[in-house]
Amino acid sequence: MRKPYRRLLDLALVLAGIAILLVLLQAPPVTTPELPGDDIHRPFLALAIKQGKKAAESSCRNCHNPVDRPFSAGHPTGDRCLFCHRLPAKKPGATAPGH
Ligand code: HEC
Ligand code: HEC
Repeated sequence: MRKPYRRLLDLALVLAGIAILLVLLQAPPVTTPELPGDDIHRPFLALAIKQGKKAAESSCRNCHNPVDRPFSAGHPTGDRCLFCHRLPAKKPGATAPGH
């Protein structure tokens, strides 16, 4: 390939890279709340770690149902709660008594 074409090709690749980057930056920020790390949810965190997320998810609807704690109008349907709601990051002392 002759040099001018080579340059054009390089330029095109760089522009393509920038375009892809811009598209990725358009992605909305993470808004899905994580599984709360409070007393209510801590047992489910333990269960999810020990027996897997599916085992923990089977209990969520005991409280998160249309009668007790209805979801917001736009909430996605689906039973894989922990597929979207991440487990809380382990913070040092998070399980210490009184926290
Ligand atoms: C014993 C009842 C109960 C169960 C079971 C339960 N929750 Fe909750 N959940 C609550 C209550 C009450 C709140 C609101 C107060 C709070 O944040 O703890 C809540 C809040 C939440 C929130 C919102 C947090 C926020 O920042 O808005 C998420 C997400 C959530 N729960 C996920 C789950 C998932 C996933 C499960 C199953 C693993 C689950 N919950 C099981 C009672 C429950
Ligand atoms: C496909 C992804 C997805 C799945 C599956 C999912 N959620 Fe959510 N959830 C979200 C998003 C996104 C939000 C934030 C909605 C908003 O801010 O309007 C949310 C918000 C919540 C909230 C805060 C209150 C509300 O209604 O906005 C609770 C509680 C909650 N989810 C519990 C659950 C439980 C329990 C399950 C399983 C039965 C579940 N979610 C399954 C994506 C998901």
